[in-house]
Amino acid sequence: MNEASNTFFINDQEVKIEPGQTVLHAARNLGIWIPTLCHRNPLEPEGSCRLCMVEVEAMGRRRLVTSCGYPVSPGIKVYTDTQLVKESRQVVAELLLARCSENKQIKELCEKLGVTDTPYAKEKKDCMLCGLCVQMCNR
Ligand code: FES
Repeated sequence: MNEASNTFFINDQEVKIEPGQTVLHAARNLGIWIPTLCHRNPLEPEGSCRLCMVEVEAMGRRRLVTSCGYPVSPGIKVYTDTQLVKESRQVVAELLLARCSENKQIKELCEKLGVTDTPYAKEKKDCMLCGLCVQMCNR
């Protein structure tokens, strides 16, 4: 395998592939912020919150994926800041804000994502359905 086939791209920046790395890990290594709720080391990616969405172009197809569970592979192109990515994260944030309208962590996250209110009916639940407590209890 030559050097060129051992790289992928994040926001047009060429990045060397590290074995076992996910898009989220690679982005964090580059200092790129991707919001997460249900991802916490050393737990396995849960993929439940959908906040960490990015666009990935692979095999001629471009689509939204969860970066926390998406493994990097040669030649893929990852985009972390497109309009589609922003809108996707904002919709998730609006849903979270509706469910946990008093939750400080959710409010801070929404603020970072530019979400100040939600069009959905508000509840005052504490559980944001990240699934981390279930994963921890099952270890
Ligand atoms: Fe990726 Fe929650 S952090 S789906």
